[in-house]
Amino acid sequence: MKQRHIKNMIAAQTQPEGRGMTVHRTIGMRSVTELDPFLLLDEMDMPKGAAGAGFPEHPHRGFETVTYMLEGQMEHRDQAGNRGLIGPGDAQWMTAGRGIVHSEMPVASKEPLRGFQLWVNLPAAQKMIAPRYQDIAADQLPLVQGDGYAAKLLAGDLLGETGPISEVKIQPFFADIRLTKEGTITLPVQLGHTAFLYGIDSDLTVAGIPVSSRTLAVLTDGDSVQISGKKGARFILVSAQPIGEPIARMGPFVMNTRAEIKATVRDWNNGTFLKQKIPASRSGSRR
Ligand code: FE2
Repeated sequence: MKQRHIKNMIAAQTQPEGRGMTVHRTIGMRSVTELDPFLLLDEMDMPKGAAGAGFPEHPHRGFETVTYMLEGQMEHRDQAGNRGLIGPGDAQWMTAGRGIVHSEMPVASKEPLRGFQLWVNLPAAQKMIAPRYQDIAADQLPLVQGDGYAAKLLAGDLLGETGPISEVKIQPFFADIRLTKEGTITLPVQLGHTAFLYGIDSDLTVAGIPVSSRTLAVLTDGDSVQISGKKGARFILVSAQPIGEPIARMGPFVMNTRAEIKATVRDWNNGTFLKQKIPASRSGSRR
């Protein structure tokens, strides 16, 4: 077993995003533009009563967005007519591919809204594929009981279970993990994959180093990681295969070259962004 250690830590930067929303951003800041194949990680946060706040209509091309809700509900609508609610514990893995134009708006309620949005890059050969959604309701996520922890598994394999997110080229692992008792646990991580941990309202110790809540711990390579904390300490562990291709990026467009970005902006400006419209394929449940 080759244990992973902490390569670097990134404290989230709190900033406004969308309309009236606050995000705590780690990957995707100016200092950490990407962590191949990850392009952005936001912990979304909307205090209760922020009526009308959200992410109104905007495009994406060339990558995937993963939404994992902790509290509150988000309504998703796109220009192809797809619509759905993502509630506490639900996940959506959206492959924007050649293009999606959508809105992500919190459903007004007394509850605060919290969740994660992770952007995952697509390899060059997949950047212009048809859009695709995988919507997974909370009760469809396997709950894996390990030695000292319980993990809700969105993607990848853990102790013989497999998360429902499938057919993603970069072989992601994504789990929401809680310590079931105070102490140290050991989790497997795919050798050679980029991996990080992020505490949810929890201070942790990762490979012997304290990691505060709302801080991204990027791991060195290896096939396992040791995490210590109090009973109930909670975090996400995410890993995926790096892509190793050049990245050209402008806002919600992530391609390989400046010329492709220019072409995308041209498509957007002259109204041909969604021209080759093919109905988005769907899998998983819809609420
Ligand atoms: Fe979006």
